[in-house]
Amino acid sequence: MKVAIVGASGGIGQPLSLLMKLNPLVTDLALYDIRLAAGVAKDLSHISTNSACHGYTPQTIQEALQGAQVVIVPAGVPRKPGMTRDDLFKINAGIVKGIVSSIGQYAPQARILIISNPVNSTVPIAVETLKSMGKLQPGNVMGVTTLDCLRAETFLAEYLHKDKTAMSDEVTVIGGHSGSTIVPVVSNKRSIDKLGSQYGEFVHRVQFGGDEVVKAKDGAGSATLSMAFAGYRFADAVLRSLAGEKVSGFPTFVYLPGVAGGREVQRALGKVDYFALPVVLQKGTVVGVDASILSNLSKEEKGLVEEAVRQLVGNIDKGKRFALGSK
Ligand code: NAD
Ligand code: LMR
Repeated sequence: MKVAIVGASGGIGQPLSLLMKLNPLVTDLALYDIRLAAGVAKDLSHISTNSACHGYTPQTIQEALQGAQVVIVPAGVPRKPGMTRDDLFKINAGIVKGIVSSIGQYAPQARILIISNPVNSTVPIAVETLKSMGKLQPGNVMGVTTLDCLRAETFLAEYLHKDKTAMSDEVTVIGGHSGSTIVPVVSNKRSIDKLGSQYGEFVHRVQFGGDEVVKAKDGAGSATLSMAFAGYRFADAVLRSLAGEKVSGFPTFVYLPGVAGGREVQRALGKVDYFALPVVLQKGTVVGVDASILSNLSKEEKGLVEEAVRQLVGNIDKGKRFALGSK
């Protein structure tokens, strides 16, 4: 399968490209960036896995994208201390709109995995851009929220003294990807009682885990290595699904009206037409959302979802208005 990475020379792009070079399902790895992609691709091409690996520039973007089944987009600027993800909108909104227009033109069938922040707005930008081109396949546009899941798994395991590698069935994350739009949901509600007074701390760490990294990097950017692993985990699920495997349960930020069960979720949540939920993938496309998680929330989690919806409305609307060219 051909995978294209757009923003491949960046802090996320390079380690993500390395991981994709190691994935046996990938036969052709196209690395695109406005700088350095030829060098990154040459470097990776010496690794003795069977995939071909080439670098592309804005002059050769058509070649980079053509035939790609999966396009992963970690292009754009990262945060510095004191910034919110929304502060990145000014620069990244235009970058994502331009990239998605090219994907619509050269790889309209591709599954598009958006990493660029603010995800709560860049995914609506991607959807509206493709819609205006007549190229939208809603289940093919996915906002990558997997890093929130990794954090929830890691932190919950730390609090409960459990094996970090066996936590994916114990906790997941729904909602959006910034601050209080991030809602960790534990499978066994007794965990909330076990956490006791630490529950609030756990939720806060998951919601603001990105800030921990931004602060520690002290001006040098945001999460890159953990994000590369998160992006890899999600992209690998999409690739396995494309290869015919039954894959479900991975949350991603999706356009609800375009997928089975989405309209019911919209009615239940009110106001929002995008939300991250565990999804069912078929041939790498989101065919449905698993809404059952919403009918199984604790009182605390219900409150978190309500707050997430309140915040998401504005983020989503901002993305839509930008894509449609109005302020
Ligand atoms: P970075 O600055 O290290 O890398 C970004 C790369 O994008 C650079 O190589 C740059 O040249 C490239 N780029 C810029 N404009 C481009 C364009 N028009 N076409 C192609 N490439 C372009 O940044 P980073 O740390 O890799 O972060 C990238 C983005 O990912 C940021 O917006 C960041 O906030 C976001 N992010 C998201 C998550 C998430 O969970 N979804 C996690 C971490 C970071
Ligand atoms: C994260 O969650 O680490 C990313 O969204 C990057 C950021 O700005 O925090």
